[in-house]
Amino acid sequence: MEAHKNSVNLVLRKGRVIDPAQGLDAIMDVVIEKGTIVEMGPGVGPPPAGAAGEAAKGAAGRSERSRFKQIDASGKWIVPGLIDMHVHLREPGEEYKETIASGTLAAAAGGFTSVACMPNTHPVNDCAAVTQFIIEKAREEGFCRVFPVGAISQGLEGKNISEYGDLRAAGAVAVSDDGRPVMSSLLMRRALEYAGTFGLLVISHCEDLELSGQGAMNEGAVCTKLGLRGIPRAAEEIMVARDIVLAELTGSRLHLAHISTAGSVALIREAKKRGVPVTAETAPHYFTLDEELIFSYDPVYKVNPPLRRLEDIEAVKAGLRDGTIDVIASDHAPHSAVEKDIEFEYAANGVIGLESSLPLILRLVNEGLLSPLEAVSKVTSNPARILQIPFGTLGKGMAADLSLIDPEVKYGIDVSRFKSKSRNCPFAGMQVQGKAVMTFVGGRVVHTG
Ligand code: DOR
Repeated sequence: MEAHKNSVNLVLRKGRVIDPAQGLDAIMDVVIEKGTIVEMGPGVGPPPAGAAGEAAKGAAGRSERSRFKQIDASGKWIVPGLIDMHVHLREPGEEYKETIASGTLAAAAGGFTSVACMPNTHPVNDCAAVTQFIIEKAREEGFCRVFPVGAISQGLEGKNISEYGDLRAAGAVAVSDDGRPVMSSLLMRRALEYAGTFGLLVISHCEDLELSGQGAMNEGAVCTKLGLRGIPRAAEEIMVARDIVLAELTGSRLHLAHISTAGSVALIREAKKRGVPVTAETAPHYFTLDEELIFSYDPVYKVNPPLRRLEDIEAVKAGLRDGTIDVIASDHAPHSAVEKDIEFEYAANGVIGLESSLPLILRLVNEGLLSPLEAVSKVTSNPARILQIPFGTLGKGMAADLSLIDPEVKYGIDVSRFKSKSRNCPFAGMQVQGKAVMTFVGGRVVHTG
């Protein structure tokens, strides 16, 4: 998107600024001019209408004030624009599920100002031309910033490495074969080495395809009762272990996507203690939903990796609390009724998440698991640091990417109002608290609600 086009000069008054990168949690005003934050602090900026200082400043004060739109942010949180480092925008190729325009509008509605989009499009984003297409399309039609992730292997086939130098030069921030694992340990080793020379992050979808086989849900008593084939937790954990070993061998940065099991959390915790350059993310469905929902046979609960058991949910939450899991990302994976409204076994994997992530993250705050600073860090400073992008914090001179959050408002998740083109949301109807009431990208208002 053209961030500064249509940007407005604004003063956000008396909001609770929560900026984890600075350890900042305080009531203050934020002044935005020409798409940039120009001042932050208590009582900064032009005086509000009727303020004591205005009379003293006379006509000059009034004209200064009239250049700025004033927004009363009292009772609201002002946070750096949220970053979702794992989404599927489906364009090019599957525009009936989502487009760059609809996916980024959904992101803005959820409070997100930046997304990283996975390469399993059609064609696959394994070359500079596709990366450039995504960046240009996002600039023309998008409602938030889009950071493409290139493919680890050409065509996601796991055979030949993509041209990382070209991908990097075209604007890719990371490489991943997400949706599929890299089954060859040698290819993964080469990918880590090669990506490292270009400063590219490798994002791993951890799944041993031989172990997951034809599985449709988590392996265990529930899948046996349902007569569905299971995916053992070991299918994820073996690849988590392998990739940690390869990150240690190569010294390259590795990020583990959509972590879902207690065993994975334990492996990552131990690797971090040893200083392995590994980071990890989970998604709201892995700390909110468990496999027993599949007693309904509703394919809306089919996702890869699959929903697990309560002890996995508890371990994922513990990993979020102690910092083993750095990031919460939605793994927004839109599918149409054609792929989803069919028998569980045949339905596509994936849930949408951009418009439900924030209240589910805020549940962790309301439960007392995370402080507001910790929760916000999982969707701002941490993904920004891992992707090495200059966003995710608020400061003088920085782009005015921010979200205004009402942490108190209670409502039911209403999928019919979603901006996403798809409806495969497992949280439909859930009673939640907290939402983004305004989203700004480079000072431009991209969402109010
Ligand atoms: O459930 C999933 N859906 N998991 C993935 O890894 C890929 C994604 C998709 O692209 O639909």
